[in-house]
Amino acid sequence: MGSEVWNVLVTGGAGYIGSHTVLELLEAGFQVVVIDNLINAYKDLNSEKPKCLLIVEKLTNKNVTFIDCDITNINDLRDVFQKHTFSCVIHFAALKAVGESCQKPLEYYKVNVAGTVNILEVMRENNVKHFIYSSSATVYGIPEQLPLVEDMKTGNCTNPYGKTKFMVEEILKDLCKSDDEFSVISLRYFNPVGAHSSGQIGEDPNGIPNNLMPYIAQVSVGKRDMLYIYGNDYDTPDGTGVRDYIHIVDLAIGHVKAMTYQKTCNPMGFKAINLGTGKGYSVLEVIRAYEKASGKKIPYKIVERRPGDISASYADASVANKELGWTTTKNLDDMCADTWKWQQNNPNGYKN
Ligand code: NAD
Ligand code: UD1
Repeated sequence: MGSEVWNVLVTGGAGYIGSHTVLELLEAGFQVVVIDNLINAYKDLNSEKPKCLLIVEKLTNKNVTFIDCDITNINDLRDVFQKHTFSCVIHFAALKAVGESCQKPLEYYKVNVAGTVNILEVMRENNVKHFIYSSSATVYGIPEQLPLVEDMKTGNCTNPYGKTKFMVEEILKDLCKSDDEFSVISLRYFNPVGAHSSGQIGEDPNGIPNNLMPYIAQVSVGKRDMLYIYGNDYDTPDGTGVRDYIHIVDLAIGHVKAMTYQKTCNPMGFKAINLGTGKGYSVLEVIRAYEKASGKKIPYKIVERRPGDISASYADASVANKELGWTTTKNLDDMCADTWKWQQNNPNGYKN
């Protein structure tokens, strides 16, 4: 199995993390089929493919097969597996807005949990045994200790979105116990930010951004007046929340490393791996780094804490370092410089 070219199914490959990962997979020589229902991606009217994948094809000079498919429809998934043979599935497709998940929990359980079960069922029908899952540091709930290590307790999530990530990990553990040929790597992402260094693909949130870096980016190009900092009375050095921000390209390469690891190892059951830098930065530190990268002032106002926020979160990344041979190569200045480049080139995202 070691030397053959793997054909990879990437669900949600038209999204932020998916599109960057598809680019790195193509560069590494994998063949890629993307499925996505485009609920959170932009489709050019002149093409059947989402715009980000047209750009990925141009940047890599390679081809991606794209199929418009909703993971909640198991028969459509069966059609995809009938037309293509896969060695591995990387599963990004999900709904991801924490606030929305409290208003529409059923939609979140349907797509994130039931949709994932559909994929696993169709994989089983087709004897596909390698799965890489987009999990999140949110599965650790309120950290009892920092840095966060993979064998710490999970669960205790405060919102439906977080619970879906935890529930799927539990499903995957049970599946691996029931079938010793199954290999799952659940990648627990910390805070992915930034954009590809070309400045041509990046994060393109719908409406008001929920997350810090895209919000700052929109302030920097004048789309929003100021940033609202959610609290400065946390138990952190400057009182603002601390997070482990990770450059999107480092994160994408983490997936290539995880697949390469699966390709060369015997079936290994369920394995959770943190993808973070191991270093936390406060909101004020991110603002200062972004101002340096962009030369723009980011006006801000301190407001109430956001419900559900924790004071600090950062990874112990030593499992990824040792087992996948993966380390991050980009720092906070790179994350800000690449976000700025993408935002400046594409103030309206892919709709430009
Ligand atoms: P994204 O919204 O940009 O990408 C998700 C993609 O899935 C979108 O292109 C969307 O159209 C597609 N999709 C949604 N529902 C679908 C369905 N029913 N059928 C088919 N396609 C569907 O999000 P992202 O930031 O790229 O996140 C990718 C994954 O990583 C998600 O599972 C998310 O929960 C997880 N994650 C993201 C972060 C983050 O900060 N971005 C952090 C931790 C984990
Ligand atoms: C949030 C989600 C988390 C999800 C992650 C995806 C919540 C409660 N948590 O995490 O479940 O996995 O996104 O990346 O939504 N901040 C501001 N002003 C803003 C935005 C953010 O001050 O406008 C602060 C936050 O309080 C936090 C830090 O910036 O201290 C980072 O916030 P964010 O980017 O939303 O990420 P998380 O809160 O880590």
